[in-house]
Amino acid sequence: MQLKDCYNFHDFRRMAKQRLPGPIFNYIDGAADDEVTYRRNTAAFEKCDLVPDVLRGVADVDMSVTVMGQKLSMPVYCSPTALQRLFHHQGERAVAAAAGKFGTMFGVSSLGTTSLEEARRISGGPQVYQFYFHKDRGLNRDMMARAKSAGVETMMLTVDSITGGNRERDKRTGFAIPFKLNLSGIAQFAMKPAWGINYLTHERFSLPQLDDHIKMDGGALSISRYFTEMLDPSMNWEDVEQMVREWGGPFCLKGIMSVDDARRAVEIGCSGIVLSNHGGRQLDGSRSAFDQLAEIVDAVGDRIDVMMDGGIQRGTHVLKALSLGAKAVGLGRYYLFPLAAAGQAGVERALETMRIEIERGMKLMGCTTVEQLTRRNLRFRD
Ligand SMILES: Cc1cc2nc3c(=O)[nH]c(=O)nc-3n(C[C@H](O)[C@H](O)[C@H](O)COP(=O)(O)O)c2cc1C
Repeated sequence: MQLKDCYNFHDFRRMAKQRLPGPIFNYIDGAADDEVTYRRNTAAFEKCDLVPDVLRGVADVDMSVTVMGQKLSMPVYCSPTALQRLFHHQGERAVAAAAGKFGTMFGVSSLGTTSLEEARRISGGPQVYQFYFHKDRGLNRDMMARAKSAGVETMMLTVDSITGGNRERDKRTGFAIPFKLNLSGIAQFAMKPAWGINYLTHERFSLPQLDDHIKMDGGALSISRYFTEMLDPSMNWEDVEQMVREWGGPFCLKGIMSVDDARRAVEIGCSGIVLSNHGGRQLDGSRSAFDQLAEIVDAVGDRIDVMMDGGIQRGTHVLKALSLGAKAVGLGRYYLFPLAAAGQAGVERALETMRIEIERGMKLMGCTTVEQLTRRNLRFRD
């Protein structure tokens, strides 16, 4: 299978599956417990229909949006994801460059394999730095200072990962950092020698956001120990309020789902929230962000930028979220499978496909700007 044969999410996923060793494919593709939430994230979009207007003069479409003070040339962005070097040797560099080319926002993960400084330089465009809350408050402050001096404008604190989700696919293969593969995991790596050669002949895997701070036994950094030993499960609203004050710029919470929490986010001075269940990778059985969107927009949409992610596979999914009042929509696996399939060229093809689908969808809906997409254009089926 080749990149030119990829027209949609499923094609990119199939190509990624061909290239990646099973344990890595399943790390991306998998989710928590029975993966109910993961499946429902996409299914949620099928519960409602778009109602188009016609004869509106749609020759020129402007799909740009402004979120947290940054202009995005399209209403989707690349949500922060970990470990991209494992998926393709270009890793975050490919995603940052592609996002920059399309004028949209790129999120660097604190578990990213390229430094936030380099990602900042490559993307050039809007960027958020995603981080977690550490027990060591000095470390939290250091990370914010580092992001500030790199020129990052917006901080994104992920609040839905206070403990790791139960990813059973990873348990079965032994996927962990560092690798702790079991026999079947090793066999699956052996079946993809091209990936192995590529991995070994390119730059060494590292986690530059954390390398300075975390010295684990023998220098090897285990991500599960990072979550259990370094992150602070006692994190609360007062702690985050203090961080928001210290940052002094746009601050966003990723993983808000309840109306009460959305209101709290406004009260402590956040400029944005992302409704998210982490792609179904954390709390299985939790509601999809799309299903929860209208309630949250009604409660706080006039005071804070509401974004959402989870399950986006099509331009029409984006149109539905925008119609309910999302300011922009995050992509996860939608760009990760193309990254794994073909590096930067893959991510660019995926973003171009999305851009075209949104533009076509807006024209067919009779809209020339994102503001014209409203609930008037959407009907829910019983
Ligand atoms: C492989 C993978 C790694 C991820 N790593 C992170 C991360 O480091 N930090 C974070 O806040 N979210 C992370 N996420 C969640 C995404 O940012 C996003 O919320 C989610 O993927 C959206 O769902 P989707 O994949 O269905 O689009 C990760 C998701 C995946 C699939």
